[in-house]
Amino acid sequence: MHVEMERAMVASRRQWAPDSWSGHSALQQPEYPNLPVLQRALAELSNLPPLVTSWEVVALKEQLARAAAGQCFVLQGGDCAERFADCSSQRIANQLKILIQMSLVLVQGARKPVVRIGRFAGQYAKPRSADYEDVQGVRLPSYRGDLINRPEPTLEARTPDPNLLLRGYERAALTLNFIRALVKGGFADLHHPEYWDLDWTKHSPQAEEYHNLLRSITDSLRFMENILGAPAGGSDRIDFYTSHEALHLGYEQAQTRQVPHRTGWYNLSTHFPWIGIRTIAPDGAHVEYMRGIDNPIGMKVGQATPPDMLLKLMDILDPDREPGRLTLIHRFGAEKIAAGLPPLVEAVTAAGRRVLWICDPMHGNTKSTSSGYKTRDFGEIESELSQAFDIHARLGSHLGGVHIELTGENVTECTGGARGLNEHDLHRAYETEVDPRLNYEQSLELALLVANKLRAESR
Ligand code: PEP
Ligand code: CO
Repeated sequence: MHVEMERAMVASRRQWAPDSWSGHSALQQPEYPNLPVLQRALAELSNLPPLVTSWEVVALKEQLARAAAGQCFVLQGGDCAERFADCSSQRIANQLKILIQMSLVLVQGARKPVVRIGRFAGQYAKPRSADYEDVQGVRLPSYRGDLINRPEPTLEARTPDPNLLLRGYERAALTLNFIRALVKGGFADLHHPEYWDLDWTKHSPQAEEYHNLLRSITDSLRFMENILGAPAGGSDRIDFYTSHEALHLGYEQAQTRQVPHRTGWYNLSTHFPWIGIRTIAPDGAHVEYMRGIDNPIGMKVGQATPPDMLLKLMDILDPDREPGRLTLIHRFGAEKIAAGLPPLVEAVTAAGRRVLWICDPMHGNTKSTSSGYKTRDFGEIESELSQAFDIHARLGSHLGGVHIELTGENVTECTGGARGLNEHDLHRAYETEVDPRLNYEQSLELALLVANKLRAESR
């Protein structure tokens, strides 16, 4: 059938258009003082080339379908909020390094391929619990991420600026361009682990375990290549996919495109957009927008999404039960997961649906210290993850991935871990404007723990 006709049929069945969200209640959207400037920025954005391609998006969907079937494991990680100022070669490379290191540790534990998805190249917009905050008696709009406004506590900085949408798109393009070039140039080549060794690996409490593991991977690789008499296929290439919270609907819409030879609509600002927990109402604008795009999509689920609501959301977002379409990223908190997760897993199983389950052990474990730092404790993060593995296994389901807020930098934002960071250490290198991230060592340590869980599971 002619593509145009097929498209018309799909569109009428869905009664959906890239802007149909605007007829629904859209939470967490900034209030721009100057709408013509916003319209101009969005018009410009919709003419700029896409950041990713539909075939990459389709390839990721296939990989996620495989992960749902237990054939691979997903590592999704990166900053809570990327900052424009961190769009530098060193920061981007460090982020890739930690993700590569973690994924190798996971490959070893899981004995299956690992799909790497960064929270990067577009993770610039943040939902906030309050629209305004009081700074020394002055009421200011909350900081909503570099895509929207700036964090400094002045009215000027906090006023949403539409031109930041273009700056964000450009930063995302620069980030992705560098990542693609690094990967293509052999940065992630397994024969050269020294390319992605972070400076402080040597001093880390996990150094020995990590290096032993690396040695065993490179030894196996050499062994394989000796037998094959040729380089092992793919060992010089590791793919990264991008993801971000699809929060600013004008921005997402402007990057939503039709492409030659395919019927659907694709959000080509990222491979894997997700809906955050604050914008997941079934009749809300975010769900309306997401239901019409063909990307694989993530949904944050937790206390706020009881089983009947979850099933309704799944019917809206995945009526055709397409493999790889839905990833449920659950985030309860170490104390709540034992009661909260089983009803969701049971409901999904009873509905005969197969989805990819990923555990986000970060967002349910956020708390504030007495000195006012927002932090998370490594022990609680680990506990939630470990419980997640056990709950899925007990219910005949399985955990197919982890979703972590992390950085390749040596920050002090989360307490705990092998180096025993405590509340009094947090001030030393506390950088985040939004949520606290695991630092390099804590990330690697968590990967080693997950690998042990996966190893035990595969026995
Ligand atoms: C996030 O992932 O940064 C986030 C805000 O998560 P959630 O929607 O689960 O609160
Ligand atoms: Co966060």
